[in-house]
Amino acid sequence: MTRRIPEPFRIKMVEPIRQTTSSERAAALHAAGYNPFLLDAADVYIDLLTDSGTGAMSDRQWAGLMLGDEAYAGGRNFHHLCEVVSDLFGYAHTIPTHQGRGAEQILFPELVRRRACAKPVFISNYHFDTTKAHVELAGARAINLPTAAALDTARAADWKGDIDLDALRRTFDEVGADNVVALIMTVTCNSAGGQPVSMGNLREAAALARSRGVPVVLDAARYAENAWFIKQRDPAYADASLRDIVREMFAQADVFTMSAKKDALVNIGGLCAMRDDAELAQAVQVRCIALEGFISYGGLAGRDLEAMAIGLREGLDEDYLHWRIAQVAYLGQRLLDAGVPIQTPTGGHAVFVDAARLLPHIPPARFPAHVLACELYLEGGVRAVEIGSLLLGRDPATGRQERSPFELLRLTIPRRVYTNDHMDYVADCLIAVKQRAHTLRGLEFSYEPPMLRHFTARLQPISAEQAKAA
Ligand code: F0G
Repeated sequence: MTRRIPEPFRIKMVEPIRQTTSSERAAALHAAGYNPFLLDAADVYIDLLTDSGTGAMSDRQWAGLMLGDEAYAGGRNFHHLCEVVSDLFGYAHTIPTHQGRGAEQILFPELVRRRACAKPVFISNYHFDTTKAHVELAGARAINLPTAAALDTARAADWKGDIDLDALRRTFDEVGADNVVALIMTVTCNSAGGQPVSMGNLREAAALARSRGVPVVLDAARYAENAWFIKQRDPAYADASLRDIVREMFAQADVFTMSAKKDALVNIGGLCAMRDDAELAQAVQVRCIALEGFISYGGLAGRDLEAMAIGLREGLDEDYLHWRIAQVAYLGQRLLDAGVPIQTPTGGHAVFVDAARLLPHIPPARFPAHVLACELYLEGGVRAVEIGSLLLGRDPATGRQERSPFELLRLTIPRRVYTNDHMDYVADCLIAVKQRAHTLRGLEFSYEPPMLRHFTARLQPISAEQAKAA
């Protein structure tokens, strides 16, 4: 038997969590319109909604808060942050932002302006939903090119985060390289299941973009987890340090955006950085002042910058990453052993349950993964999130529901927060739900917001007659 890896930390502070009764949960979910986003966090026992901003900071990060320099301009924490970005990633220009989408909103319009395309598009292995929203707000279209392997959850493959290189070549020809604003490589690929992008794929995709004069952007929220997978799975990097791998990953891009709320282990913060394009940096700084805050704080307090500077390095600690990825795999294995279908292998930050396979009797238009999210909450107070048709929404032009390639339930694991006992509890709850999967019915809207609907939609279970008719 392989020995379980214990937490590489001691717990210095605890935050009590309270379990609710089954009838309390039924009432809370009803009041929340069958939308876990609308639940009060106090009514949630184990919160796997997101790994974003939900991690636990270290004692060193908390100590760093006390070193906050709250000068409006040029504070010492900003300089520390610039040093770390330059040292870890090799980028010369650092612009802090309040979170990842802050970086997107100051960068994308500037890239669109510079490229002056007739029909601007961004191409990605997969745009995260806010990334897609900011592409569209900047007047461009977002094209996702995941590989066929990524869509087949039952088939294990090492690099399900890769972009489909043939499709990339084809798309360049079809839309014309002059219309491509940027190539965005998302590491790890959140929407495909927190799956890693291989160094080879990153290198080839970037070279292809560069050969056509298209800039490369790294969406680097989970840079450390991606680097860890490269070290584990690519024999060429087995002896490389994570720092060297990270350096090489970032060397493939011209710009990176980062939600620091993930691998950088802070509760709030983001980055936009340019490798050497001073002119682009200057133009983006102007937008930063208007939208985020002055160029040396970007919507954050000085103390937040300090915690981020420390967290960027801590996120690359090998003992921590080893335990972290093993914890996600542990939950995945418990589910697999009980016959719950998941995206395999498990990725970096979450276990993605394949609701299309678990609830084949519920069609996409009745949101099978969201049904599963509601049922998991009712079973044990565990909150997870749908990544499927509900999230994808309607085509803005036709109003028709877009076809989602996935119907997934994401069990997102916050960093350094829960133990494997919590993971066992989550697995037990989901296995109990699986036993009654065939009895579950779909959901319909009682309120459907015009955009970003999954956050605030209200739903209700359909009747037995409706379910039969479907
Ligand atoms: N890019 C990726 C790959 C992300 O996963 C996220 C956020 C963002 C950009 C935006 O960053 O939230 O700091 O503004 N993902 C979170 C999630 C919200 O739950 O997956 P942000």
